[in-house]
Amino acid sequence: MSQQPELEARLEDQNEFEPPESFVEQANVSDPSIYEEFDENWPECWEQAADLLDWSEEYDQVLDDSNPPFYEWFTGGSLNASQNCIDRHLEERGDEAAIEWVGEPTGEENRTYTYEDLHREVNEFAAALREMGVGEDDVVTMHMPMIPELPIAMLACARIGAPHSVVFAGFSASALAERMNAADSEYLVTANGYYRRGDALDHLEKANEGLEGVEHEVSDVVVKDRLGDDAHGHDLADNQHDYDELVAEHAGATVDPVERDAEDMLFLMYTSGTTGEPKGVKHTTGGYLAWNAWTSQAVLDIKPDDTYFCSADIGWITGHSYIVYGPLSLGTTTVMYEGTPDHPEQDRFWEIVDDLDVTQFYTAPTAIRAFMKWGAEYPDEHDLSSLRLLGTVGEPINPKAWKWYYKHIGDENCPIVDTWWQTETGGMMVTTLPGVNDMKPGSAGPPIPGNDVRVVDASGDEVSAGEAGYLTVEKPWPGMLRTLYQNDERFIQEYWAEYSDTDSDDPEDWVYFPEDGAKIDDDGYITVVGRVDDVVNVSGHRLGTMEIESAVVASEGVAEAAVVGADHEVKGEAVHAYVITEDGYDGGREMQDQIEQSVEDAIGPIARPESIVFTPELPKTRSGKIMRRLLEEIANGEDLGDTSTLRNPDVVEDIQQQVGSE
Ligand code: WT7
Repeated sequence: MSQQPELEARLEDQNEFEPPESFVEQANVSDPSIYEEFDENWPECWEQAADLLDWSEEYDQVLDDSNPPFYEWFTGGSLNASQNCIDRHLEERGDEAAIEWVGEPTGEENRTYTYEDLHREVNEFAAALREMGVGEDDVVTMHMPMIPELPIAMLACARIGAPHSVVFAGFSASALAERMNAADSEYLVTANGYYRRGDALDHLEKANEGLEGVEHEVSDVVVKDRLGDDAHGHDLADNQHDYDELVAEHAGATVDPVERDAEDMLFLMYTSGTTGEPKGVKHTTGGYLAWNAWTSQAVLDIKPDDTYFCSADIGWITGHSYIVYGPLSLGTTTVMYEGTPDHPEQDRFWEIVDDLDVTQFYTAPTAIRAFMKWGAEYPDEHDLSSLRLLGTVGEPINPKAWKWYYKHIGDENCPIVDTWWQTETGGMMVTTLPGVNDMKPGSAGPPIPGNDVRVVDASGDEVSAGEAGYLTVEKPWPGMLRTLYQNDERFIQEYWAEYSDTDSDDPEDWVYFPEDGAKIDDDGYITVVGRVDDVVNVSGHRLGTMEIESAVVASEGVAEAAVVGADHEVKGEAVHAYVITEDGYDGGREMQDQIEQSVEDAIGPIARPESIVFTPELPKTRSGKIMRRLLEEIANGEDLGDTSTLRNPDVVEDIQQQVGSE
């Protein structure tokens, strides 16, 4: 990294970067007047997004805001997401690659699905789902690794109007059961396993265990055989079908795409919030797809001839929006990689970029920090000159990581888009437009044109430049979540109550609160600092501390526990648990293992605590509330703020000693 000290020093001092001219010249969006135009012409500006799609029935109204916060977009219109992502590209791009899949084992050949191939298999699987009895609006759950059958199953559901609910493959059996129960989902599509750092993981065992926890009858389960000779030898139960057999039985079948109302549900995605129970975020067909098509072309600069690689997992919203729906709606080639970036070596992503001539690469800051740690020799071994644009998402990026990415991956020749958004927003909300704005490392940039994102104080007034505040979104946008599944009341409480007049039916009185802290500078660039609720962001994965806490408490011998997030060099944040044992339990290694296991069982390995500290007491206020702020400060090794309001100030020193002696 330090072979070129002058260059490093120059980058270190530079805090603003212009997009390369060569990029601007060819950018999908390069006219700065778009901001003014969208402000003046709001909400009709979003017709531009709708125009990127094929509609079977034109919409009558861009925005119906008569019943806030239950906004409706493109009302009266109808369309089908699978038709938009596949069929309409067939004529011109039928032979072009839609999905370029790279398995983790290096000896395995890539699987390329042209738009024709994708069309064929999505139709066949849609026919199979139909025959199984899946009807419009039946929720189909997917608990699948990064294999092509996952987007195929999603698009097959979209084709027949059945919303999907994808559960990240790394989530545990009980997390799967909880989500199937919450959505009353009677169908599951899964796989027998996948490869992770060379091991053939047994996924079906976990899925089967999850199915045991489903409270209603599950009518059918489809299992893709990913492992072949490495499979773990489970027999399929009576209601379980082999994916390949099903598709073969329906060879050549076609299913007309079902006309869906713009506001019909496309999918559910469960995400973590303040309370223990995951929230079922509902996204709809017209607004969501329009938002993702528009942001994919304006921000990721996607063109049909590109080969675009997003390293996220489709089990999270980033993969839904920017591996599947956004890129495919634009008819481009989207790359899917099954495994980890360090298998078999730490250059795996760069090998993929080099091999496939990837044009845009979108990843998370946690990955960039890992690349930095591994060293520039890994990207340096490869020809990355096909890259035109880089992106990051999921957590704040520190300027040092940004500059490393800019130099060592982008060769100082690619704009970087730092995109702030959430599961709930459906797609990007705050980011520079790469062909328009200068970039400031560490700051996501201005809100997307037509988007009213502000930084306010506790009473909702805008803060001045440089001051810390809270992010709000003060106008609706097409990609927004419509509600929490079957829970309108919680939807209002979680996202609107903080800053809105909830008795009003004037949309001006309704403000969306994403629960992030932020700052804004004189140029209107927003830096998102992080969550202000009980959500931690571990390696870009969103986890609820309350969910983790209940898993810790469920472990034998635990009397009370507090779980907090603290800074972590690579992961961004890590989970730390403070535990009081019951009498007779010693808090030794064995108990630690049990607690870790309990967290893995309830959520998954990603939520495993970085540290577990046993303590006779937790710091509490006089009214008996655990002071999490103090525990965070301890975990961060920071100076402690005010401890005078504690009922038991002595405990702080005890805990600090414990942490120090680890
Ligand atoms: C939370 C949402 C967006 C898809 C992946 C995560 C944090 C996201 C950024 C960014 C700073 C960011 C926020 C947000 N976040 N992008 N560019 N800069 N923070 O989606 O799991 O719903 O998590 O991720 O805290 O609220 P998610």
